[in-house]
Amino acid sequence: MDTKQLKIKVLHGPNLNMLGHREEQHYGNLTLNQINEVLHEAAKTLNVQLSVFQSNHEGALVDEIQQAAVFDGILINPAAYTHTSVAIRDALLAVKLPFVEVHLSDVDNREDFRKHSYLSDVAVAVCKGKKEQSYVEGLNKLVEYLKNEA
Ligand code: DQA
Repeated sequence: MDTKQLKIKVLHGPNLNMLGHREEQHYGNLTLNQINEVLHEAAKTLNVQLSVFQSNHEGALVDEIQQAAVFDGILINPAAYTHTSVAIRDALLAVKLPFVEVHLSDVDNREDFRKHSYLSDVAVAVCKGKKEQSYVEGLNKLVEYLKNEA
């Protein structure tokens, strides 16, 4: 029986520290701390360990991904960098860790520039449009993927 507890890195991109004050119709009304609490509750049920990091800076997110070797997988809401960042894509591919892409809002039904993601084609799954539940769904999908892979 495999008793190893899975370790997941949770990455939140730019402006997600402003949740609770951002456009409620897209992002809901929870703060980032409250979303992290929801995630920690879900992690307890799944018996996985979480380490959470938020940054408004692309390079800081790249550094964090490069240092994620001790983790089994990454749950990432790259926020605006979803639509712009070859650097974050390259970092995720370089560390070869499975990752799930998360969006609170329904990015397919907003401005055209939000329809393109630099990450989706290499993600294990993309969970979007369900506000904080997108994160919970994403965590579940990542854990399911990691357990099947083991
Ligand atoms: C977002 C969607 C992005 O387009 C946007 O730039 C964000 C948040 C989301 O969670 O819905 O900042 O990733």
